[in-house]
Order: sequence, then C-alpha cells, then structure tokens
Amino acid sequence: MASVSTSYERLFSPIDVGPMRVPNRICETTNTIGAAQMPGFVDDAFIAHHSAKARGGTGWIGGETFLLNSPMPAEAADEFMPGSGSFRVPIYAMPGFVDNLRKFCDVVHAAGSVVVCQLTYLNFTLAASSLPLVEAYDWIPHELDEGEIAQIIGTYPKAAAEFMKAGVDGIEIHCAHETLPQTFLSPATNQRTDGWGGGTAARTKFLSEVLVAVKQTIGDGMALGIRVNGQESREGGYDLLEFREMMDHVAGSKTLDFVNVDVGHSWGSPSYVQPSYYGHAIYREVGKALKADLEGIAILFSGRVNDPGIAEQLLAEGCADLVGMTRAGIADPEFANKAREGRVSEIRRCIGCNRCIGQTIRNDAPDMFKKPTCSVNPEVGNELHFAMTYKPAEERRRLVVVGGGPAGLETARVAAKRGHDVVLFEKASQLGGQLALAARAPGRDAFDDFTLFQQAELDRYAVDVRLGVEPGLDEILAQAPDAIACATGSRPRWPDTPGVEGANVVQGWDVLAGNAELGDRVAVVSQEDHFETPNVADYIAETGRNVEIFHKWTQIGAQIDRYTIGPVMTQLAEKDVRIHTGLRLAGLNGGKMEFVSSFGGRTHAFDGFDTVVLVYGSVPDASLYYALRENQHAAGTSAQLFLVGSAWVPRPLAEATLHGAKVGMEI
Ligand SMILES: Cc1cc2nc3c(=O)[nH]c(=O)nc-3n(C[C@H](O)[C@H](O)[C@H](O)COP(=O)(O)O)c2cc1C
Ligand code: SF4
Repeated sequence: MASVSTSYERLFSPIDVGPMRVPNRICETTNTIGAAQMPGFVDDAFIAHHSAKARGGTGWIGGETFLLNSPMPAEAADEFMPGSGSFRVPIYAMPGFVDNLRKFCDVVHAAGSVVVCQLTYLNFTLAASSLPLVEAYDWIPHELDEGEIAQIIGTYPKAAAEFMKAGVDGIEIHCAHETLPQTFLSPATNQRTDGWGGGTAARTKFLSEVLVAVKQTIGDGMALGIRVNGQESREGGYDLLEFREMMDHVAGSKTLDFVNVDVGHSWGSPSYVQPSYYGHAIYREVGKALKADLEGIAILFSGRVNDPGIAEQLLAEGCADLVGMTRAGIADPEFANKAREGRVSEIRRCIGCNRCIGQTIRNDAPDMFKKPTCSVNPEVGNELHFAMTYKPAEERRRLVVVGGGPAGLETARVAAKRGHDVVLFEKASQLGGQLALAARAPGRDAFDDFTLFQQAELDRYAVDVRLGVEPGLDEILAQAPDAIACATGSRPRWPDTPGVEGANVVQGWDVLAGNAELGDRVAVVSQEDHFETPNVADYIAETGRNVEIFHKWTQIGAQIDRYTIGPVMTQLAEKDVRIHTGLRLAGLNGGKMEFVSSFGGRTHAFDGFDTVVLVYGSVPDASLYYALRENQHAAGTSAQLFLVGSAWVPRPLAEATLHGAKVGMEI
C-alpha cells in the first residue's frame, strides 16, 4: 500500500482538467438535494448551501443537476414516471437563469473553487428500447425513434451555450443512474438493431454524439466530461470489462477532459449513494482501471469517501485524480479546510444514513415543501436562517441539559459554542442515547461517529459532562441554571395486547443494549416502519438464531428510501430472516401468537417461538420537564425551560439534531 502523508499533499495539490484549473482534488459531485426555495432554480438558498462548501475548501463544486427539456412531439404523452423529472420549458431557458447562475459562479470563484454543471436527461418515459428501465419497478418506457434521438441530442449544446454565458467552468453529461444516455450504454436496456445499439461501439454512439455536439459549441472554453456507472449490478447489464471497452470508444471522440465514475443504480444493492452498510470506496478498482486506460483524461471517483485520509489514499494508490466527497461536504461543508489546517478531529463525518437523498425522493410532500436535510448537520437547508440567528451569546448564561442523546448533545454543543456555561447530565455511562443503540446493528457502526464528534466538541467548548447521573429536581436547581433543556428521550412503546407481559416478551431496544435473554427461535413483532425493525432482526439473526418478522403493513422499512433499502433487505435475506406482512398481534400465550390481518378480520396463529421481541416505536419521556414546570415557581427559579428531541416527540435523527440546535440558539 502506498504511504499517505498526514498533510494530505496530493489532496491539496491543484490539477488541470482541460482548460479548468481545479485548486485541489476534493469534489462536490452533483447532488440534487433541493437547496433552492423554488425547485430547480438557482436562488439565494441554493447559492448559500452549495457555496458554503467552496468557502469550506472543496475545490470542485457540482451543485445540483440541470434537467433538460422534454422535446416530445405534440401528440405524445407528457407525463413523467415516478422518480424521473423534466421541465416542459427547461430551467436554463427561463428568464434570469444565466444571471442567477453567474451570481453562483462568482461566489464560488471568489472562494477559489470551480463550478461544474451537470446536464441530465431523466424522463423514465423515454429510453433506448422499450424494456424495463429500473430493475426494481415495472415501468416500460417509449422507444425513441431517429427523429426523437436527433431532437434530444440537440438539446445538450443549446443548454451548454447558456451555461457558458454564465461563466461555468465545466460541463458534465450525465450518463449514469438510469438517465437517458445510460439506457443506450446498457445492454439490459438497449437492444436496438439500428446502429444505436448492438456492440459496445454502437451503444456509445448516442453519448459520443452528444459530446461532439457540446464540444462544437463550447470549444476549449470549458472542461467537458461525463458521469458514468463503472459496472452494472443488474441482469444483462455491463460489467467492468465491457465498461472499459465502451470508455475506450467514448474517449475516441476526443472530447473528454474528465470521467466522473461511480458504481450503482438508483435502487437496490448497491445504489450509487452507498449507505453505511458499504465499506469506504469499495469500488475503487473501477477508478484504478480507468486511470490506467485513459491517459490524459482526469478520473474522478466517488463512493462513500467521508475522510480526507481515505481520499489521499485513493490518490496515492492511483485510483483517481479527483475524489468525490459529496455527503462528506453536506455533513460538514468546512471539512476540507479543517483537514488542510490539521483540525481533523473537528470534522463532523457523514454517517452514511442517506437521509439527505431519501428526503429528495419522498413522495408524501410536494417539492415546494421539501427541505434539504442532514441527520448530523442542522444547518443544511437552513443556511440563510442560521446566518441570521447563529450568533455568539450577548450574555453568558448557565444551561443545564438533561440527556446525552443527539438532541441533548446538539443543544449543549450549540449553546456552549455560543459562549454559554453548560453542564450536561446523562444517566447512562456513555453518551449517545438511541444513537448508541442504532450503532450496534450490523452495518450501522458509523453512527457512533456522530457521538464521537459531539464528545470532542463538548470537550472543546468545555461542557461539564456528568455521566451516570440521573438528576432530580433539587440537583438540577442546585446548579442555579438560567435555562434547563430536558432532552430525556423516549422509551419503547408497550402495546396493551393480552399476554405481552409474559416473561418471554422483550423490547427491541433491550436486545440491542444486550439486556435481553433470547431463545433460539425469535419472533420480531413490529409496528415500526424505519430501520429499527430490520436492524433488530438483523442483530439477532447475526447471532445464528432463527428469526421471523411479523409486521402490520404490506412491507417492512416502508420509510426507508430506495437508495438504502437494498442492503437492509439483502442482509436479512442472507440470514434467512422470514417476513410476514399485514399482521397485527392480537394475543400472546407463551410461544403461541395470534394475529389479525391488517386488511380484514381473518386471524392467523403461529406457535413455537422462544422469544417475542417487540418493535413498536417509542413514546416521549417528558416527566422531568413537567415536574420542573409544575415546581419551578415554588422553587423560586425563573430558568427558561425547554423540552427537546424525542422527549418532545420521537422523530428521526435529523429532526432531533435540528431541534437541539434551535434550542441551543434560543438561550
Ligand atoms: C442528496 C443527493 C442528491 C444527489 N443527486 C445527484 C444528481 O443529481 N446527479 C448525480 O450524478 N449524482 C447525484 N448524487 C450522487 C452524488 O453525486 C454522489 O455520487 C454520492 O453521494 C456518493 O458519493 P459520496 O459518498 O461522496 O456522497 C446525489 C447524492 C445525494 C446525497
Ligand atoms: S444525511 Fe446522513 S448520509 Fe446524508 S450527508 Fe448527512 S450524515 Fe451523510
């Protein structure tokens, strides 16, 4: 293994990519997190979110993707299939687009970084062939004819011309992630016999023609490259060898300054946004192969690189010339500067939870109401608001925080960073609360990184942390606090189902904490739709026990996004965990369970289980807050009182962190 310098020499050296000089090797690859208040536009919120990374030291800013228009013939259908998108009038042709994008470029350039814009044709109603486009779904697209192909190719140079006017440094043609050009590249989705399909050369024809058309428009004024999937993980898809052959043909178009390569699909296992279940940069060999094959073309590799040390190693090992660190920059936009200045312990690492991408494809809220979100960085999506409110305290006050879970930690961190005097009580012998439990499940140990970050921050801001203490009212008031934040968390919900008080019934939390005795045959009975159910089942199955899940809805993990659900289900399948759906527990008698169907009154009985593990979500534990509120007057204190995080209402990590930050700013 090549040696790695702790000064990250390679990472912070500049590189010329065609006519574009990139100040270092750290890239924000395009991430359509939805930062703009008006979806698809480049507005102040968009600029605040993405330029924060440039100011934080990231050299290459990819911003968000720009969707091309849908040049459909008048008589054709104009709907889009779920998960795809486009605009009848493309954003780049909207009044003011060039001026707004220029403003963004100016801000990024002022920070010393470059802007690379991605052009995307993503309308799942159209493809090379009329074949299933996304393996996980049954969508069948319309097969493009010659005229439609020519029309679509023509949209790329038109768009590129507008981006050039705005001062963009590079253009990236998106041909990964089930975008239209990938449907031509993949033998699974392109079975044409008319010259646009066939062998590797014919399948690259669409992409090469797009590149040549764009190059003719931009000349040597901008860098030009592609984003491409280095190997498919679907039946009939291309493998790495075939991919390399295709890249050889594309390079023959003499248009490429860079190739931005990743691995994965927009569903399944792996997805291109690999969650914590995957190792860091596990597909690095794809980058290495391209670097060997494509001389003179810069290779950008991405895939769960969240640490500057790993990025430096990828460069040292010849796996890339540039490294995508996209979620790393969402979790901490300043991570690059921190690495360069030797402040690595201050980096808030991405934990690979995928809330950021999951949020963007939620279909339970219209685009206008979706806000970018990060589980560990509450500033994401709130940049403009935080810039106004995140100020040093005018007067140093004393804050008592009760509870060292994510909400309590963030409350303490933000208040202490603003200059307050903070004491934090945690009843357990370690910090983290529910995070510590989540981190015990297979593939989720990265969740501990957030607690470690918080711990380091509390040390840095001299928070007085008292572990193993569950303070009563007197102990809290003895601190003479000006403010008290009750972040006392939640506790697992117990249903009132007959028989659940039996000795063989335990809670999932106790299992993860190592406090439950389990028999050989275990039933996980669930009314929870996030990660807890599969995680608890996986944790138990890993011990070699026989596990079956009984869930109330049509599927488990219904709230887990399509980029993440793949490995979750794969792990269960590999351990032979059986899943029964549409069942609610109606009664228990030892190992005998009676269920009633969620969709009708039929009952079903199961027998022979040694242990029943309940995963029913949690209920707030706010008793301390109410006791303080009731007794505050009598105790003669006028301390500000706050109820924070799960103690207010149990929600995902991102909401707990944001709630903590808001309270920390309020004091
Ligand atoms: C919120 C979000 C949106 C994304 N949108 C895009 C996109 O529009 N185009 C694209 O090529 N990749 C997109 N990606 C993928 C990223 O560019 C990157 O490949 C991925 O996050 C893995 O790299 P990382 O581990 O450095 O985060 C998106 C990722 C995230 C987290
Ligand atoms: S939401 Fe999760 S995956 Fe996304 S950047 Fe934040 S920590 Fe990383």
